[in-house]
Amino acid sequence: MMILGIETSCDDTGAAILREQSILSNIVSTQIVHKNFGGIVPELASRAHIQAIVPVVQEALNQSNCSLNDVDGIAVTYGPGLAGSLLVGLSVSKGLAQSLNIPFIGVNHLEGHIWANKLVRSELEPPFIVLIVSGGHTQLVYVKGWGHYQMLGRTRDDAAGEAFDKVGKLLNLGFPGGPVIEKTARDGRGDAISFPRAFLEKGSLDFSFSGLKTAVLNHVRALNPAELETRIPDIARCFQDAVVDVLVQKTISAAEKMKVKQICLAGGVAVNGVLQKHMKAACDKAGYQVFWPTPDLCADNGAMIARTGLFYLSQQIHSLNNLNPVPTLNFTHDAI
Ligand code: KG4
Ligand code: ZN
Repeated sequence: MMILGIETSCDDTGAAILREQSILSNIVSTQIVHKNFGGIVPELASRAHIQAIVPVVQEALNQSNCSLNDVDGIAVTYGPGLAGSLLVGLSVSKGLAQSLNIPFIGVNHLEGHIWANKLVRSELEPPFIVLIVSGGHTQLVYVKGWGHYQMLGRTRDDAAGEAFDKVGKLLNLGFPGGPVIEKTARDGRGDAISFPRAFLEKGSLDFSFSGLKTAVLNHVRALNPAELETRIPDIARCFQDAVVDVLVQKTISAAEKMKVKQICLAGGVAVNGVLQKHMKAACDKAGYQVFWPTPDLCADNGAMIARTGLFYLSQQIHSLNNLNPVPTLNFTHDAI
């Protein structure tokens, strides 16, 4: 089975071709237009998807030496995400599927991030805990079986990636904040500042990063410009350590609670080397196996959507042509 996967939920236009589980191509065009605004501007995002979608799909076909006639099914993200952005991928997918007379399936973007782990580790099987950490989401999910998900905890305010992006902006490091904070933090001292860690009430697997963000803001405001300049690496380091600490401890608690032996990471923040290192150390100590996808599969991409679609389409599960974008789609129920 040959699947075309399309992803346009946020600021990346992605298309990929999979032949069964093998990635033949995985093309991503990341929108740079938002850099000037320090965050994603939804209207600009949908316009940029409209411009990029056809060339990106064409490039995915070219690189895989396929034509549209070779494709047996189309998988596309229908939520969560920005309504206008989702609409672009969904409309193109519906149009292609109808004209080619092949099935299409709407995929939950977060489920796609989970399946990215299966693309790099084909032997991975549930049960496992996955920590999804991206620009829009921070969730701990218990994967009982493929297609069966139970959300154990989520952020009550900012997502982890969003906190990185906001602190990056606060420190004048540019957008997105994650990669540049990780780089800047390498020159910082871990004991320089004691930022708060929000563990919330006993036993809670929810997250909250807004208090940490405010603590960074207050710290920055108390410094004069010259002091701030010299303290940026320390602030970046201590902020990152505080985020990582909470993510690691809550993930281990989730694995203990659900009595699983495997943990996966997913989403754009999962490429963070400090998170990976600390998660690995904690898992080694507690006797859990831990995995994460390669950087190109941690970030938003069409291959993870195609892989999720393959699972459903191979069981003859597909969507109807009246499927609409669901910007707030979540894991509140089993399956999609
Ligand atoms: O999954 P993703 O590509 O898009 C969403 O679905 O949101 O995640 C993007 C997020 C951004 O907030 C970005 O700052 C963060 O991932 N990120 C990182 C790193 N690289 C990207 N956060 C921390 N450390 C990194 N190295
Ligand atoms: Zn994502």
